[in-house]
Amino acid sequence: MWWSVTVLSFLLNGVCEAGITSSFIRVAAPSIEIPKEDFPPPHGYNAPEQVHITQGDYTGNGVIVSWVTPVEKYPNFVTYWKADEKNGIKRNRVRSKITTYRYYNYSSGYIHHATINRLQYNTKYAYELGHGNGTRQFWFMTPPEIGPDVPYTFGLIGDLMKIDTYIGDLGQTHASKQTLDHYLATKKGQTVLFLGDFSYADVHPFHDNEKWDTYGRFVEKSNAYEPWIYTAGNHELDLAPEIGEYVLFKPYKHRYRVPFRASGSTSPLWYSIKRASAHIIVLSSYSAFEQELTKVNRSETPWLIVMMHSPMYNSNNYHFMEGETMRVVFEPWFVKYKVDLVLSGHVHSYERSERVSNIQYNITSGLSTPVKDPSAPVYITVGDGGNIEGIADSFTEHQPDYSAFREASFGHALLEIKNQTHAFYSWHRNQDNVAVSGDSIWFYNRHFYPKEESSSKG
Ligand SMILES: *[C@@H]1O[C@H](CO)[C@@H](O)[C@H](O)[C@H]1NC(C)=O
Ligand SMILES: *[C@@H]1O[C@H](CO)[C@@H](O)[C@H](O)[C@H]1NC(C)=O
Ligand SMILES: *[C@@H]1O[C@H](CO)[C@@H](O)[C@H](O)[C@H]1NC(C)=O
Ligand SMILES: *[C@@H]1O[C@H](CO)[C@@H](O)[C@H](O)[C@H]1NC(C)=O
Ligand SMILES: *[C@@H]1O[C@H](CO)[C@@H](O)[C@H](O)[C@H]1NC(C)=O
Ligand SMILES: [Fe+2]
Repeated sequence: MWWSVTVLSFLLNGVCEAGITSSFIRVAAPSIEIPKEDFPPPHGYNAPEQVHITQGDYTGNGVIVSWVTPVEKYPNFVTYWKADEKNGIKRNRVRSKITTYRYYNYSSGYIHHATINRLQYNTKYAYELGHGNGTRQFWFMTPPEIGPDVPYTFGLIGDLMKIDTYIGDLGQTHASKQTLDHYLATKKGQTVLFLGDFSYADVHPFHDNEKWDTYGRFVEKSNAYEPWIYTAGNHELDLAPEIGEYVLFKPYKHRYRVPFRASGSTSPLWYSIKRASAHIIVLSSYSAFEQELTKVNRSETPWLIVMMHSPMYNSNNYHFMEGETMRVVFEPWFVKYKVDLVLSGHVHSYERSERVSNIQYNITSGLSTPVKDPSAPVYITVGDGGNIEGIADSFTEHQPDYSAFREASFGHALLEIKNQTHAFYSWHRNQDNVAVSGDSIWFYNRHFYPKEESSSKG
């Protein structure tokens, strides 16, 4: 086994409302990066690769299909049809927009983005890319029609690709493979909320952009079949003046497209979508997007979820307090609009907060400690897709009262929305059987049922 696990008792920490610092520790064996050769391109001439899909509009009737052709631009279209139609299958075709980029001495393949619109809800579609012996087929399910009681399950994954010496998020390591395989084995997730830090190309010499290609091949087995909702992380910045690269987010913006205009955003770094019973706002750690909060209709989408790469409540020593400037700006809005959950990556461990806020402070009040607040979101950090370092002892020494559960393991989480009041949340460490959860809790909707929750452990 690549890592081994020590199971100790849970440590209860601090006074009355103590949170849990799980002492479930994996031995700090360095994670070995998966070699590029382990992610070969698909067979066939000019075969489309790195296929990935995301929601293509505001309401879930659209899908953006993206792929790379290595040799030739053409064919530059996606063919799609209703998968279950028995007779007279009607095939439709959408042309892609093609882009390429150079990064230092790397030249990308032809990167295609095709937006399919006017799809029916709750329908399985098949799609086909490529030509001749390079033809490939995939499928996806559209979400159910938006509504307050529509059950829907999101997978929460962050920071998949890390390398051993780097303290980062989701790099191409065996741990990331484990995270993705484990997530797929649960067969429950319908859409992934991805919390940023994609390929970790930037930690390699010259930001080796072939790592973006191998990353795209790696996640294809999930990302070609279910949408991933993308949040950009700091590893997508790719600013490298020393090699003449000054354009922020260059590889990311060429390779990943999001429906930002549909929500009135002016930048792909922040946008919003409605899906089933959730309204999801992707915030850039670098930009504001308040007006979207005023547009949320809780009668239509009761579940208000915010995604942002850097956590605001994090008691890990890594990146400790990094979210402070964001917190000062956004936290009063999160409380005012009763956000249910704020999801982050970035820190390579797992943590779940209590419902707390820290918005009373001013120059005279001296109220600088977070307090319990039923209108506040729960903050979840799942920056544990697959980093390398043993981080078991890297939490702050005394678990703050705001921290409900924290553990230095890799894993993913599932958010199973049941109806407008209840959602079951569980976090799954990689080394456990898929049926086991390391942390779980019933979340109650802040708008319709703002009761206090209690986790199953502790
Ligand atoms: C880019 O430059 C680096 C350093 O000179 C070299 O190792 C690498 O092989 C080059 N890559 C390409 C695609 O030319
Ligand atoms: C695939 O098609 C290409 C060009 O159409 C051809 O050159 C190649 O030999 C084919 N490969 C196989 C394995 O059939
Ligand atoms: C909110 O959504 C409900 C249910 O779809 C709808 O009846 C209502 O008119 C919407 N409210 C606003 C202000 O759009
Ligand atoms: C500071 O906060 C206290 C307590 O919430 C409040 O009474 C006071 O008016 C505030 N002062 C300023 C300058 O906002
Ligand atoms: C919502 O789901 C929860 C959990 O499944 C259930 O206990 C509750 O009765 C449901 N509420 C309604 C109104 O159906
Ligand atoms: Fe990060």
